[in-house]
Amino acid sequence: MNPKLYHVLGAKQFSRSELDELFAAAKGMEEVVRTGGNRSHQGAIMTTLFFEASTRTRLSFESAMSRLGGSVIGTENAAQFSSAIKGETLEDTIRIISGYSDVIVMRHTEIGAAKRAAAVADVPVINAGDGAGEHPTQALLDAYTIQKEIGQLDGVRIAMVGDLAYGRTVHSLSYILANYKDVQVFYISPENVRIPSYVKRYMDEKGIRYSESGDLNSVAGDIDVLYQTRIQKERFPSLEEYEKASGHFIVDAELMSLMPNKSIVLHPLPRAGEIADSVDNDPRAAYFRQARNGLYVRMALVDKALRGINR
Ligand code: NCD
Repeated sequence: MNPKLYHVLGAKQFSRSELDELFAAAKGMEEVVRTGGNRSHQGAIMTTLFFEASTRTRLSFESAMSRLGGSVIGTENAAQFSSAIKGETLEDTIRIISGYSDVIVMRHTEIGAAKRAAAVADVPVINAGDGAGEHPTQALLDAYTIQKEIGQLDGVRIAMVGDLAYGRTVHSLSYILANYKDVQVFYISPENVRIPSYVKRYMDEKGIRYSESGDLNSVAGDIDVLYQTRIQKERFPSLEEYEKASGHFIVDAELMSLMPNKSIVLHPLPRAGEIADSVDNDPRAAYFRQARNGLYVRMALVDKALRGINR
């Protein structure tokens, strides 16, 4: 792996000072967008290589690149439309794309795929989701949103709810939050999709307080953030297992009535029934604002990668 390149592969790579810097840069990007974007990366090319479905992640990266004056090439259905279908290895695909562009944003079905890509790439690789592994840029925008909405990340009390086994965003968000003081995490899930032990081990090493349960109502009154997630249907070994996990925790008006006034509901989206539409008008429903923040955070990341700043 070329150590001079600024790859974004997993959330553990971020230190607190880097996060402070990144969030300050993202705030600056809000102003850049308000004033019509800039040309700071004119001539630069981003490749988006997506082997899995995406709306927000791909389009916000593409929008980020356009707002910075660069352009985008890519394939949104790489499993079928790239040479992967002809049997080309991921490594070869990445070597080729490295010659066509200045940064690669990739989503893949396999855990560790982004690391494999970075090992052979001549340009920065940004992990936009690797199977049930990680989704670091989502976690960065989640943390940015918490800071913006709640005021700070230190002391935050957060319930992560739903599919904690296959949901890669909760893995990455746990790692990001482990940089902050007095954080408390309530992992709330069905029995068969509990938070993986390797995530818990990391939280233990970092001294982060957490608990695990299947009872959302009893913690709802004590949290600043409810981080709801979709049950990842496509990742279950069988439909039966999926059905065991689905339909347990629905955020609706009743649940909202238990939550503090100064709290927020986040969701990486897409939702598939786990937040009732009627919650959208509640000022604490922050998930659409959260999605918007993805643009600013990704602009900051792309800017850093293209400047070749590796720290
Ligand atoms: C998430 C993902 O792809 O992991 N979506 C996203 O990027 N916002 C969550 C999901 O698919 O449920």
